[in-house]
Amino acid sequence: MKKRILLGITSGIAIYKILDLCSRLVKENYELEIIMTENATKMVSPLVFETIGRCKVHTDMFHKGHHGEVEHIELGKRADIFVIAPTTVNTLAKIANGIGDNLLTSTVLAYDKPIVLALSANTNMMENPATLSNIKVLEERGFQFIEPKTGLLACNTIGRGRLAEPFEIFERIEDYFETKDLKGKKILVTAGPTKEDIDPVRFITNRSSGKMGFAIAKNAYQRGAEVVLIYGNTSLEPPIGPEAIKISNNEQLKSEIEERFDSIDCLIMAAAPCDFRVENYSIDKIKTKDKLILNLIENEDILKYFGKRKTNQKIIGFAAETFDLLENAKKKLISKNCDYIVANDVSSEKSGFDVDDNKVSIICKDNIYDLPLLPKKEVAKKVLDLLL
Ligand SMILES: Cc1cc2nc3c(=O)[nH]c(=O)nc-3n(C[C@H](O)[C@H](O)[C@H](O)COP(=O)(O)O)c2cc1C
Repeated sequence: MKKRILLGITSGIAIYKILDLCSRLVKENYELEIIMTENATKMVSPLVFETIGRCKVHTDMFHKGHHGEVEHIELGKRADIFVIAPTTVNTLAKIANGIGDNLLTSTVLAYDKPIVLALSANTNMMENPATLSNIKVLEERGFQFIEPKTGLLACNTIGRGRLAEPFEIFERIEDYFETKDLKGKKILVTAGPTKEDIDPVRFITNRSSGKMGFAIAKNAYQRGAEVVLIYGNTSLEPPIGPEAIKISNNEQLKSEIEERFDSIDCLIMAAAPCDFRVENYSIDKIKTKDKLILNLIENEDILKYFGKRKTNQKIIGFAAETFDLLENAKKKLISKNCDYIVANDVSSEKSGFDVDDNKVSIICKDNIYDLPLLPKKEVAKKVLDLLL
């Protein structure tokens, strides 16, 4: 069943970002209902939110056309989560003081589950002792906050008060709905390619984007696990939540895993370490010439190393293959002493490196589970289900 989100919108200048949030939520199949304060409707027409959010926008407590429904009570009852973004410091103050002078604040008063507030305001308004004390009061009452960021503000000053980005608010909503079935587990996820330097300006790497490992780290975090993400040479931003450590080459990847290996429950090696490195790194930039021959030597197999070294840890490895997928993956399962191998055929354009979908088979000692082509987010869930 679709999850229902009740979205309160007040008259902060960051209101424009909420259109992006609505669009993301609709794309991910959430059902929206929106309440705007009267002042918010002076900034952006409700029609725009109705169109992007594909929903009704409620603005007035006393509008004509009531059919026996008490709106500020019913809106809350229908909602699975109530988020107010942006929350002005004015609405924050009203909520802290139990004022219900419009549809939004009255709905807040009638709502009996946690409410999430994404604050944004000019730094002085945000740091005003009245605002700080209102935040404290509401934290104590169980309200959840999406912290404002520091940066360039609409009033052309730099300071604290910028609304969190739409993707961050979106992720908080997604976090809220995930069951916390991995709570208590310590999971180490590696993602993306490593790179091996040739000279100070050149390196060798591979086509891994990090998307698969990022999706796993994010889902594990959303499901309550303690997650460390070690990631390599990718232009993507790591997901919000897990502790993220950026590494460059295989040696660093191994040493970051080594440091944590004894205290984790599971290692998920979605990273694509370079199989080779150049034998002789050149301290100076190699001059252009007609022909350059590089000697490559094999890197240590990190997955195999930890497979041998494991005690109680579960190890999930990945096998990217272009032919004999299952056969090669089975060999890898045994030779690297993994509990599971997630095998993906990277010869197809629709799945594998640098795309959003993946078609994988999960292999363990006695079984093979073939999954259909799925978004990496869904593959991540299936992989993590193996730990339950
Ligand atoms: C252009 C403009 C931008 C504003 N931006 C913010 C803001 O980012 N945060 C805030 O707390 N108030 C902001 N305000 C002030 C609120 O709009 C004002 O306090 C208003 O009374 C809040 O009403 P509401 O909470 O019912 O929406 C802004 C006002 C204007 C005119």
